[in-house]
Formats: sequence, C-alpha cells, structure tokens
Amino acid sequence: MIKVAPSILAADFTRLGEEVEDVRRGGADYIHYDVMDGEFVPNISMGLPVLKSLRESTDMFLDVHLMIDRPIRYVERFCDAGADLVNVHVEADREENICAALAKIRAKGKKCGITLKPATPAGAAEPFLGLVDLILVMTVEPGFGGQAFMTDMLDKLRVLRKRLDVVSPACELEVDGGVNGETAKLCVEAGANVLVAGSAIFGETDRAAAIRTIRTI
Ligand code: DX5
Ligand code: ZN
Repeated sequence: MIKVAPSILAADFTRLGEEVEDVRRGGADYIHYDVMDGEFVPNISMGLPVLKSLRESTDMFLDVHLMIDRPIRYVERFCDAGADLVNVHVEADREENICAALAKIRAKGKKCGITLKPATPAGAAEPFLGLVDLILVMTVEPGFGGQAFMTDMLDKLRVLRKRLDVVSPACELEVDGGVNGETAKLCVEAGANVLVAGSAIFGETDRAAAIRTIRTI
C-alpha cells in the first residue's frame, strides 16, 4: 500500500492545526515532522513543544525525521512528546550509538527508522536492517524544502527494496525531497511505499487533489 506523508515544513505555521486537519481530510496517511538543529543541517526548524501541541490536536500518525547530531540525546523526549515513529540519520553518530538510539525508541513502544543522506550508500543501512520499521532515502540534501528531486537516488531505492524483500519485507521504504506527481511514480516503481511531500502538497490550494496526484501510480 502506498502512503502519503505531507511534510508540515511547508505548511502555514500560524494555522498548523487547520493545515494538519486539511491534509488528514485530504487522505494523508502520516504527518512528516522535520526537526533540524542548525548543526547536522544548516537550518533550524521546530522541536519538542510544537510536536507536543500537534499530538494534542490530532490522532494522525506522526513520522518524526530528526536531522540532528547525536540523536541518542533526544529520542526519548521526542517519543514522550508524541511521535509515533522516530527516525535518525545514520550519519549523525557512531553505529553503536545509532543502535542504542533505536533501542531507546523501541523501549518507549514507538516505531523507529533510519535515514540515509544522498551521498550515503545503500550498504550503510546494513547494520540496522531487522532493527527498523522504516528506511528513509533522502532525495535532496536535507535541510530545506522545495529542492529538485535527485533521480540518481532511484538506484539506491531499488537496491534497498531488493534487500528488504529478503531480510525484512515488512520494513517500509520512504522517500523525502522533491516528491511530486511525476517523481512519486519513479519512486514507487523503484520500490518506495511512503512518499513525503512538502511543497507539492502545502503549496497547492486543493490538498486532497495534490495527495491523490502523488498517490496515483
Ligand atoms: C528536507 C526535509 C523534507 C522537506 C521536503 O530536509 O526533510 O521533509 O520538507 O520538502 P519538499 O517536498 O518541498 O522537497
Ligand atoms: Zn523530512
């Protein structure tokens, strides 16, 4: 099943509750929540208090993408603030600390995931296969919305889907960055099943139509 995850980084923050309700009614499956620390990526977005408010105002599945250094320091707090899934970058710490962060998320009863930056090869996911519910492949450099999709990431998706089919078939494969009606099709053909989209959804007035366009294969 193909899932669409609107990234609220592109939403109107003065009306965040209404924006989330709009995409929920429009058929969104997850809400994608981008956390940036100004260190791991050259930008700062939102953090714990906004997530907590969001959790109080919606029952939607909250997919939290941590673009922060040494995420082990914060994963439990994001779980407590209401994340349903917490995702950490494999580049953000040593392998043992990433494994320990994933264990902390699981111990909180939440789903966990890893993310790969564009320059990180598919093989970097290997130590974490079987430990995660979702693998996110960045199709732009993390840090900013509205960038162009990197088509050379499609091979990485193919390799990962093939590997997951063997070792962890239930693991979801998500893409993030430059996803729109056209690039979504390429991602699904390459094996992705969760499609994150910011500007292609919140940049449109009819969010239900935008979600349908992204989901349509
Ligand atoms: C970028 C974020 C994305 C971003 C996607 O670092 O992780 O989730 O919001 O935005 P679009 O869909 O506009 O490329
Ligand atoms: Zn993201």
